[in-house]
Amino acid sequence: MNDKQRVAHYAAQQIDSGMLIGLGTGSTANCFIDALVERQQNEALDCQYVASSIVTLQYARQAGLKLVGIETLAYLDLYVDGADEVAPDLSLLKGRGSDLVREKLLAQNSREFWVLIDPSKKVNHIGEKFPVAVEVMPFAVSLVQNSLSHLNIAAVLRKQGDGLHVTSHGCLVLDCQFNNDAPVSIDLQLNAVPGVVEHGIFLLPQTRVFCGEDQTVREMLR
Ligand code: A5P
Repeated sequence: MNDKQRVAHYAAQQIDSGMLIGLGTGSTANCFIDALVERQQNEALDCQYVASSIVTLQYARQAGLKLVGIETLAYLDLYVDGADEVAPDLSLLKGRGSDLVREKLLAQNSREFWVLIDPSKKVNHIGEKFPVAVEVMPFAVSLVQNSLSHLNIAAVLRKQGDGLHVTSHGCLVLDCQFNNDAPVSIDLQLNAVPGVVEHGIFLLPQTRVFCGEDQTVREMLR
């Protein structure tokens, strides 16, 4: 078992039948789905799930999990996802998979938000290893880039193959560079730009981070 599988297995062991659980996007989220499927098959674990992206929807559906549409939700018991970076104050950077608006909707509307990582995701400050992904309405890309340049923020349109990267929500993604700015300040700046749908900084009080390392799982405390 590697660190991602270990922390995903640990999280799946905490789940009780009857819960409504949000499923994140990425390789760690897929490990969590695999561990849930194992419990469903071996222990008749009976939960309902909602996916944060089309790719996760397909993965979970093929694995045999019971899915409900995001449109039907009033709240979730728990949202479980990976992250790209976790700072000591548990601020997060997400978005390499880019489905930010769905991910943040689920995280924000969950009683708890569990983030599953391996040690490579720990950083001293957000933005240390990756740019901040910003999900943008397709028709607004030029205007958003212009607004960001007035704030001295360099923004590069994310490509995929010969085309542009498109999120599950049908948006485009701008990868933005910040120079060690505080996550709260980045959050405020990006939220104030019209045309920005969502961005990759997650600052939620219900966040709990679990790290698979040294053959065990440790919770990161602020
Ligand atoms: C999805 O948009 C991302 O935020 C992922 O949660 C993040 O990139 C972590 O991915 P891995 O679990 O594949 O490392």
